[in-house]
Amino acid sequence: MPLSTLLVIDDDSALLYAVQKSLQSPTLKVNLANSASIGIRSFKEHRPDVVLLDLRLSEASGLDVLRDIRAIDEQVPVIMFTAYSTAATTIEASKSGAFDYLLKPVDLQKLKETVERALSEGKLSTKESSDLSAVTFVPGADVTIVGSSIPMQEIYKKIGRFASSTGNVLILGESGTGKELVAHAIHHHSPRRNNQFVAINCAALSETLLESELFGHERGAFTGAEKRRIGKFEFAHGGTLFLDEVADMSTATQAKVLRLLQEQSFERLGGNETIRTDVRIVAATNKNLHALMQRGLFREDLYYRLNVFCINLPALKEREGDIPDLVNYFVSCFQKEFGKERVFISPEVYSILCDYQWPGNMRELQSVVKHALAHAVGSVIAKEHLPQALIHTSLNRPRRETGTPALLSINDLLRSTLAKGEGDLYDKAIRLLDQQIIPAVLEHTGGNLQQACDILGISRNTLKSKIREGSISIEHFVLSRIDKDHQSLKAH
Ligand SMILES: Nc1ncnc2c1ncn2[C@@H]1O[C@H](COP(=O)(O)OP(=O)(O)OP(=O)(O)O)[C@@H](O)[C@H]1O
Ligand SMILES: [Mg+2]
Repeated sequence: MPLSTLLVIDDDSALLYAVQKSLQSPTLKVNLANSASIGIRSFKEHRPDVVLLDLRLSEASGLDVLRDIRAIDEQVPVIMFTAYSTAATTIEASKSGAFDYLLKPVDLQKLKETVERALSEGKLSTKESSDLSAVTFVPGADVTIVGSSIPMQEIYKKIGRFASSTGNVLILGESGTGKELVAHAIHHHSPRRNNQFVAINCAALSETLLESELFGHERGAFTGAEKRRIGKFEFAHGGTLFLDEVADMSTATQAKVLRLLQEQSFERLGGNETIRTDVRIVAATNKNLHALMQRGLFREDLYYRLNVFCINLPALKEREGDIPDLVNYFVSCFQKEFGKERVFISPEVYSILCDYQWPGNMRELQSVVKHALAHAVGSVIAKEHLPQALIHTSLNRPRRETGTPALLSINDLLRSTLAKGEGDLYDKAIRLLDQQIIPAVLEHTGGNLQQACDILGISRNTLKSKIREGSISIEHFVLSRIDKDHQSLKAH
């Protein structure tokens, strides 16, 4: 039987025994230490799976003990508890890597849950790491685009096809879908790769500044133009110019850009000299250009010039199979920034992330990964480390049908059993009912068996045997709670 060990360090003996009495079970051994030095000794000797540590010990500060423990073991979850909580101690405790922070008087039920959570996360990071997607990605020095879904493969094909040509490319897609990344990729794979890739954001600049950035200016062309300046069109000669947010250009600037594209020549602002240039334009926007053209806000002739080739980037939700790889990739990009050598991601996190709608696409996914890295204390990213809003939206959404076999209705069962002349209809109907209501009630109570029994109006033993005997599909987290519950019941 797998045996985990919990070490409790507190100088309050009454509390030590209360914790031991309530948490000790055939699967959890509870060791007690009533001082910091005994605690550290016991830690070295028994290497517990979880530590419960009082912040105020008579002989030393719990934070010092935490640092000593961290020096021996970087991973072990340490739950701190204290009678006094201040922002400073809480921040200090989480900075020093405490797994969680509980207030005295200790709520034994909450403590039990926290220890269970710590144990399962601790296991994730050590013993069962082969079950997890340990992040191994090393982002290449070149442009890395992650995703192997069918829509992305189509995009790769297009990038490959368009890169070797010289025609301009228009990249469309919602905000954050990777338009700039694809623009880079096109340049990087094109024969122009050894020349400049120059990007300009047309939405960020006023009309004059944008024109000066694009075409350059002669000295004195406008107030503040003290020196001649080379524009991006000139600078990008032989390379690629990325016109980002191209729909946000004024119609006057659009006319100038159009002329340049038609003639491949232009004049600097305030100058007469005609400059010839050879640039490939890759433009991008998240706006609906057709709608803008209809309202006279975007020139149709410019649209056709830019849109020699078009890439329409799918929203992240349309390539949700790529989400786990993208999560791993973003974790590998940012983990160092958050001081994490290794990161493990709980399977539940992947499933929440795959269920979410991602209105902000890749950019939002990136920020969720950063949020999780910032909130994860150790090396495990669990559900708790995701932004609250995301967990709530994902829970409120009806479960996806994929993966779970479709359940029959009572009517279907009735019809098929009668048609086939089979028996046991009553049993089959009850089992069908159980399959539908038990998982729903358990999900509603977050896996709390007693509450589920109260709602269902049946005993715990009946519920457990129904779960074991029936082919009832229950979320993994609920099952592990039920197993633990079962083991602790046996212990009493
Ligand atoms: N498929 C992908 N693989 C890896 N990283 C990606 C992928 N797509 C986007 N990213 C990253 O996500 C971030 C947002 O992408 P990008 O800036 O290219 O999107 P965008 O469509 O230009 O967004 P916006 O409309 O907000 O300007 C960038 O850091 C980019 O590197
Ligand atoms: Mg962009």
